[in-house]
Amino acid sequence: MADQYAQSSEDIRPTGVPAIPAIRWDEPPEGPVLVVLDQTRLPGEEIELVCTDAQALVEAIRTLAVRGAPLLGIAGAYGVALAAARGFDVDEAADALAGARPTAVNLAYGARRAQAAYRTAVAGGAGDERAAGAALEAARALHAEDARASATMAAHGLALLDELLPGGGHRILTHCNTGALVSGGEGTAFAVALKAHRAGRLRRLWVDETRPLLQGARLTAYEAARNGMAYTLLTDNAAGSLFAAGEVDAVLIGADRIAADGSVANKVGSYPLAVLARYHHVPFIVVAPVTTVDPDTPDGASIEVEQRSSHEVTELTALPQGPGFGIEAGGGIPVAPLGTQAYNPAFDVTPPELVTAIVTEEGVLSPVTAEGIAGLWGGSRDG
Ligand code: MRU
Repeated sequence: MADQYAQSSEDIRPTGVPAIPAIRWDEPPEGPVLVVLDQTRLPGEEIELVCTDAQALVEAIRTLAVRGAPLLGIAGAYGVALAAARGFDVDEAADALAGARPTAVNLAYGARRAQAAYRTAVAGGAGDERAAGAALEAARALHAEDARASATMAAHGLALLDELLPGGGHRILTHCNTGALVSGGEGTAFAVALKAHRAGRLRRLWVDETRPLLQGARLTAYEAARNGMAYTLLTDNAAGSLFAAGEVDAVLIGADRIAADGSVANKVGSYPLAVLARYHHVPFIVVAPVTTVDPDTPDGASIEVEQRSSHEVTELTALPQGPGFGIEAGGGIPVAPLGTQAYNPAFDVTPPELVTAIVTEEGVLSPVTAEGIAGLWGGSRDG
């Protein structure tokens, strides 16, 4: 069945990771800025947004111009460094950034880490400039650590796939977007698929379109195409028939928050995939850096799930619509009667018993237990 979906070599143009990095710090003569790739405009246009203060970054985070758990952490840290470098109130900026979206714990982690570096420097007698430098150093360190974590997770993840699925090309189903667009490196779940591709062991990447904002169709397909991977897009609703046809060897997803009991919050639609995977005896694997694990959230029920605007469901707002178009603005193509209210959680929670393994930079946790999760942070969130 899969072969009829294979692209011809002319259809796939390997051009590597996005030409523009997802995030970068810059210091033009007018003063420091944080430059982010506007993900609401992909795949049509690669356009950068220049943030001169934390508030602009908060807006970029809320509209999903900057998104995905690890990148949110990096952005949160740089946002605090930006506030410090520009002489704004650092504590205010850290609070605004940490609260910009509630589910991905990395965001608050990154913002608080840079804030702590700033405060420590001030307490040690540093002036404004040196304290701002300490915040920037913390952001750069987190950025670099995430890149290293990504590479290590990819290696652990591929070794796990090879062990679970000996002797063949892997047919991997993924949901949402977990590549270089959300990472200091090549991503989380996507980085595993990319490593499999480079090793000649990826038979197919099945890409869920990921309603309503189409992170799979717009972003994962974009990254897969740029890397020359064999991929096929499907509507989220088609996943069941794909499992039934025996076309999925493993599910690989990222995470926005992993609770102390091993419950995994990720893009809405992940939990139904876990249920399907269990029914069809297919491994369901979560790939996330340790910064996504939150020992302060005891269980899945305690994870705050972001509820987003009805417009995202009642209108096709995710389609790039030209200059100045924002997802929050509404004004997309209506697909429901005017005034229709939609249930639109951005995430869902998968219980640990449905997760075959959690892959972090520390290794593979399987089975997923509270004891195993506790070991990941070594009882501490410092540094
Ligand atoms: O709402 P988004 O686009 O920020 O959601 C992103 C996801 O759910 C990702 O799957 C998750 O952050 C893991 S990214 C490595």
